Amino acid sequence: MLLIHNISLLQTPVGNASLRGLAQGENRKYHNASVLIDGETIVSITEEGALPPCPPDTVRLDAGGAFVTPGWVDAHTHLVFGGWRQHEIPLKLKGASYLDILQAGGGILDTVRQTRQISEDSLFDRAMGFLDEQLRFGVTTTEIKSGYGLDLENELKQLRVIRRLNEAHAMDVVPTCMAAHAVPPEFAGRADAYVDYVCETILPQVADEQLARYCDVFCETGVFSVAQSRRVLETARSLGLGLKIHADEIDAFGGAQLAGELGAVSAEHLIATDERGIAALSAGGVTACLLPQTSLYLGKNFARAREMIAQNVAVAIASDFNPGSCPSLNLQLSANLAYLRYRMTPEETLSALTLNAACAIGLGEQLGTIEPGKQADLTLWNTDGMEMLCYRMGSNQVKAVVKRGKVVVG
Ligand code: NIG
Ligand code: FE
Repeated sequence: MLLIHNISLLQTPVGNASLRGLAQGENRKYHNASVLIDGETIVSITEEGALPPCPPDTVRLDAGGAFVTPGWVDAHTHLVFGGWRQHEIPLKLKGASYLDILQAGGGILDTVRQTRQISEDSLFDRAMGFLDEQLRFGVTTTEIKSGYGLDLENELKQLRVIRRLNEAHAMDVVPTCMAAHAVPPEFAGRADAYVDYVCETILPQVADEQLARYCDVFCETGVFSVAQSRRVLETARSLGLGLKIHADEIDAFGGAQLAGELGAVSAEHLIATDERGIAALSAGGVTACLLPQTSLYLGKNFARAREMIAQNVAVAIASDFNPGSCPSLNLQLSANLAYLRYRMTPEETLSALTLNAACAIGLGEQLGTIEPGKQADLTLWNTDGMEMLCYRMGSNQVKAVVKRGKVVVG
């Protein structure tokens, strides 16, 4: 057994289901606490300096007065890719928009070229480094989307890398197939034919090899229409995959309404989503997965998080790590922006980064809170609480990370 003691404050949301409305801001706080762990599982939490009865061979870890939360969950990344896209910045500074660059054959399509060229092993080695970096930022579970292959061979290559990462790395990794991320050059001007190919060839093979738990689609002006996105997601559902959607990242395009209608587990970005979109998310029980660093990086508005919470939409916050719209693995920066730009409270922010994020990737029963029976994923911080964590910006506040009951950082 492992006993982590001398925790000045332990703060966690409670339960297995996503928290919405007022409940999003409810966190349980234990002062002067300790956590007892058996193998990979949390056994008990004590407070006010009390220690639980534990066997004599229990290993003791002195937290040194640290602030402790559940390990953070990054519910939206595009972490497996070749190359970078720093050459886009001068274009953007001259006024080119994200969609201008994509329509000129750059953007996502540039990364597709670079990803197709790289071997599976090189992609894997690179992504292992990214996961190490995420872990050092206090993230213990991550979702990863494919979508830089855009043909059967290369989508499967990316998804196999994601599967290997889950096996090889301390981090838990959840795979999402995003073959409908852009129309590849072979299908230029023939988006419907590409959607046929995704639905008839890529998704069935992915489902057959059990390479993805979710399917995602980029429903956006000039990318995939609402009707095309519906086809992709309905096909995915018939194959047993869960549904996610990149919705209203640039324009209020109807993606949130589609998510609500289909009862998707999450809709992501939602930068431009209006009241009707928010109502649809609420009616459909869809988690809003918000990506504030992307708003910052693209120079866009920030999603209407306060209205979403007021309308009983569960809000999760993630990084969106990718080489175009968010080349950052630091989820702490998302917490800063949630506080300052979404005006979420530190407590709402913690729920968004832990339990709600875990639920957005189907892991709410195992992860996202510190409670007996849950997996022992904990982050120890060098701050005195969530308010300080949301306020400090730019330095890494992690002191140590415990994943499945083992100290993996610190
Ligand atoms: O979530 N919008 C689509 N996908 C990513 C960006 C991918 C890229 O630019 O390479 C996003 O912002
Ligand atoms: Fe994304």
